[in-house]
Amino acid sequence: MEITLHSPLDMHLHLRDGDMMNLVAPLSSDFAGAVIMPNLVPPVTAPGAMVAYGERIDAAMGHADFTRYMTLFFTKQTEQQLLIAKDTPGFFGFKLYPAGITTNSEGGVSNLADAESTLKMMEEMDIPLLVHGESHGFVMDREAEFLSVYRTLAQKYPKLRLCMEHITTAAALELLDEYENLCATVTLQHLIITLDDVAGGALKPHLFCKPIAKRPNDRDALLQAALNGHPRLMFGSDSAPHPRCNKESCGCAAGVFTAPLALPKLAEIFTRNNAIDKLQGFISGNACRIHKLTPTAKTVTLHDTPMAVPTAYRSNGQEVVPMYAGEEISWSVKH
Ligand code: DOR
Ligand code: ZN
Repeated sequence: MEITLHSPLDMHLHLRDGDMMNLVAPLSSDFAGAVIMPNLVPPVTAPGAMVAYGERIDAAMGHADFTRYMTLFFTKQTEQQLLIAKDTPGFFGFKLYPAGITTNSEGGVSNLADAESTLKMMEEMDIPLLVHGESHGFVMDREAEFLSVYRTLAQKYPKLRLCMEHITTAAALELLDEYENLCATVTLQHLIITLDDVAGGALKPHLFCKPIAKRPNDRDALLQAALNGHPRLMFGSDSAPHPRCNKESCGCAAGVFTAPLALPKLAEIFTRNNAIDKLQGFISGNACRIHKLTPTAKTVTLHDTPMAVPTAYRSNGQEVVPMYAGEEISWSVKH
């Protein structure tokens, strides 16, 4: 059995920089494009730094036909700064992190009231806002506690394109259904695992990410929404590589590295659930419609020939462990 996807997009991807980027970027090259996260050290806050980062990504991708949709790390902006950002080639939107909530987010927003004028202007200029929606509360409740913030933003800025990034709860889906101006991304791992897979037995550092995987009913609701073709739910892998030594450590870094197997695993999930007709919308169509994207035409064919997932990817002293390391998944990309 074979399926062909048209211009698949990863709406949330961490490519890092330097040797790590050179290792992981080509592993996303079956996608037609991706929204690139700005949480480098230091974060990408200025259009000039964004352009330079984009050029390094192009070099790391080699000759792959790959459209990068660049984001800037959200900070308070003047109208002039927003106009410059909007006019910078490759710019897609701003990524808002609550200060200190996840990897390299120390410079994020500590008081949303300070951001109001910027958000108002972004709404007028039709610039998307992508949000890491977690509070600083108890780890299992962080997303649920943040939903009131999404609600306030959705009500206050009805024309703002507001994306709830990497949603992990059934409650987030309910909110998505309440407001037409909300959209959301969901990762591969949150369609598959629960907290039990991370910490229910021997601790699995390579499945630890933020937001942490939640309860079975949350995972099931996310999967059903994807399989049912929810029109405002998009695939965003949040593939977040960290060096193996930082994952297998007493202070495990948050992030699951899924880029090399995301498309085969999605094909497996959607075929197994008789929902293959919904995969194209999830992987590209919804994003193109919501964000008016026109990625270069590119097809990728997947077939039900097993893929042996490597135990690790290595190059130039970098080593990163993917989800399903050393296991076989039943679909693969047909090259
Ligand atoms: O698990 C995560 N890893 N969540 C994030 O929000 C950031 C990401 C990273 O950059 O490693
Ligand atoms: Zn992320």
